[in-house]
Amino acid sequence: MAAGNLGLEDVVVGPSSICDVNGKTGQLIYRGYDIHDLVMAVTFEEVVYLLWNDDLPTRAQLDELNAQIRNNRALPSGVIEILKALPTSAPPMDMLRTMVSLLGIYDPDGRDNSLPSSRRKAMRLTAQIPTIVATFHRLREGKTLVPPDPTLSQAANLLFMMTGERPDDYAARTMDVALTLHADHEFNASTFAARVTIATLSDLYDAITSAIGALSGPLHGGANEQVMRMLLEVGSEEKAEGWIRDALARKARVMGFGHRVYKTDDPRAVELKEMSRELGERTGHPEWFRMSDRIQKVVLEEKGLYANVDFYSASAYYVMGIPIDLYTPIFAASRIAGWSAHVLEQLENNRLIRPRSDYVGPRDRKVVPIDQR
Ligand code: COA
Repeated sequence: MAAGNLGLEDVVVGPSSICDVNGKTGQLIYRGYDIHDLVMAVTFEEVVYLLWNDDLPTRAQLDELNAQIRNNRALPSGVIEILKALPTSAPPMDMLRTMVSLLGIYDPDGRDNSLPSSRRKAMRLTAQIPTIVATFHRLREGKTLVPPDPTLSQAANLLFMMTGERPDDYAARTMDVALTLHADHEFNASTFAARVTIATLSDLYDAITSAIGALSGPLHGGANEQVMRMLLEVGSEEKAEGWIRDALARKARVMGFGHRVYKTDDPRAVELKEMSRELGERTGHPEWFRMSDRIQKVVLEEKGLYANVDFYSASAYYVMGIPIDLYTPIFAASRIAGWSAHVLEQLENNRLIRPRSDYVGPRDRKVVPIDQR
């Protein structure tokens, strides 16, 4: 039975000059720059500029972007009131999807989807998503809200608003690298959802709301939370090998492994593995890294599957003290940069995205009146 290309594997759906993934060599580039070079040399804000423009910013261009983002982090009071009214048990990705949609109603650019308006909306959402995540977290913990600090970077300010304490340089830099690594990944599911949505000429908030919904699933961004729950279930380094061999024997899908495009090391996982190892040592909790490392070896040996971006981010975030259900919202706080870049690129050269299905159902049926069926 024909079924088209289930999952659109290897289907190229359009041109883009933002990001490229080479699944054979394990290379990821943002506008021509290798991810490993970017991680070494630039901040997340420079990456945001790069994704939204053709090249890395000059000092003056970066200062201007930083000023815009830092001055737009506060949430409208109506949004804070609704955040306060949400059940504290709300799954954070559901909360984020709802609040981003709500922010669209408050945006001064309204539903104007011209390029200048859309760029301003992208900037505002990039500024506000971390505030939404941190505000919700403080509210559910019954803690006082921490206003954003305009002297801090996106990474440092996110940690500050969540914890109420200024992170040290190491923690801030670590989060900054994590944000850079998650910032874009060409036509992944959530980005494609955003492009499909904006291609109807709706607006950036519609597109990002679609993207957040797509990101939340465990086959996409939701995998990082599931990885940590798996590590907690495994419990110790000694049990790791037996646990994973058993899971594979049961044909379980192991979160944090496999990728539609990479058939070798995911370069983001290479960076995050090192981050997880170093954080484990610095915090005196190397067990989560070691457990992960053992699992990775077995999955590669038995299934030929490589760790993806979500595998080592889990143990890294865990030892940083980040609550597990905020891993995917933090992914969104980074990916907003890439989603917005794709929305802007789509708007610059738009055509409705409307593929066909490979219809495999019946034809030529005669309608039978209801009381004769
Ligand atoms: N654990 C166990 N087996 C896996 C696997 C995993 N994480 N990922 C893929 N496989 C196996 C499948 O069972 C299938 O085996 P089969 O051919 O014997 O049936 C084969 O590899 C192909 O898998 P498929 O689901 O068709 O690949 P895909 O390209 O559609 O899926 C993912 C890609 C990412 C959805 C998939 O690898 C996955 O579910 N990974 C776990 C979730 C995850 O980490 N997501 C984050 C991605 S960045």
